[in-house]
Amino acid sequence: MSLKKTGKGRDSGTVFRRLLGLGRGAGPKSGREPGAPGRTGDGLLRKILVIGIGAGNPEHMTVQAINALNRADVLLIPTKGDEKAFLADARREICDRFLDNASCRILDYAVPVRRADGSYEDGVNDWHRAIAAIYERTLLNDVGEDETLGLLVWGDPMLYDSTLRIIDHVRTAGRIAFEIEVIAGITSVQALCAGHAITLNRIGLPVEITTGRRLAEAWTSSTRDALVMLDGVEAFRTVEDPDAEIWWGAYLGTPHEILLSGRLAEIADTISETRRAAREKHGWIMDTYLIRRPAPVAEEGAA
Ligand SMILES: C[S@@+](CC[C@H](N)C(=O)[O-])C[C@H]1O[C@@H](n2cnc3c(N)ncnc32)[C@H](O)[C@@H]1O
Repeated sequence: MSLKKTGKGRDSGTVFRRLLGLGRGAGPKSGREPGAPGRTGDGLLRKILVIGIGAGNPEHMTVQAINALNRADVLLIPTKGDEKAFLADARREICDRFLDNASCRILDYAVPVRRADGSYEDGVNDWHRAIAAIYERTLLNDVGEDETLGLLVWGDPMLYDSTLRIIDHVRTAGRIAFEIEVIAGITSVQALCAGHAITLNRIGLPVEITTGRRLAEAWTSSTRDALVMLDGVEAFRTVEDPDAEIWWGAYLGTPHEILLSGRLAEIADTISETRRAAREKHGWIMDTYLIRRPAPVAEEGAA
């Protein structure tokens, strides 16, 4: 696994890139021995800032996220494929707009490829461990004992994101000590609801947050409302209730944003066709949607 390194700072108001040598030259501020625990005799401890950056619009960045970005000594940015190239560009744009800390080093890394053979769970676990190894190496080689590593997480780290789980792998390995701080971000769920000007829940009713794969397997009868993410199978087509409604959004917060809503039975074909055409045009798609099935009035309570 190789780390591609680019630095960033401000040069006459424009961003410039500063190349950093891996483990040499312009490295971390304070010295450390690989494998040594992060807490030193001086009481220093590395820090990982997990920063929610919003779901596609740089203006989703909260004041807290901007301040956190500028507290980082090193920012680690993943790159991979068409979709991830867009995500990496979005992260770079955020740095260009909001990073004023000229001494911050930006490191790019190629996201390891997830194994397709074997079980899904094993594949994901191995993949997380491979990313954990990158985090660990970065902490050891590029982040000084008194320095802070910033990870820019799409949306919010608590929602269908494994950054915190991966950091747990690093902690469990026990080769380096660090503290962690999480900065909440605007999620794609919020961007969807804002785009359609709707509330997520109906009064007093629960909402199931699920994946397309799970929705396609079965939609339990206990919830009448489902917020669906990570849908590569157009699971909305499996919902047969003739009175179901859908609020669908793709590329939320980005210049390509598309919003469609209506009675599912009437609009499903339009969503499928819009999805197909958009994916062909941009080479990737990220979409999410809320489906509501009619609920008995008695189920609705206050708030
Ligand atoms: C790995 S999850 C990450 C979710 C993210 N942590 C969040 O807070 O929104 C990726 C899924 O989030 C949804 N998503 C994220 N960004 C989106 C966007 N800008 N437009 C539509 N859906 C988005 C899609 O369902 C996508 O498959």
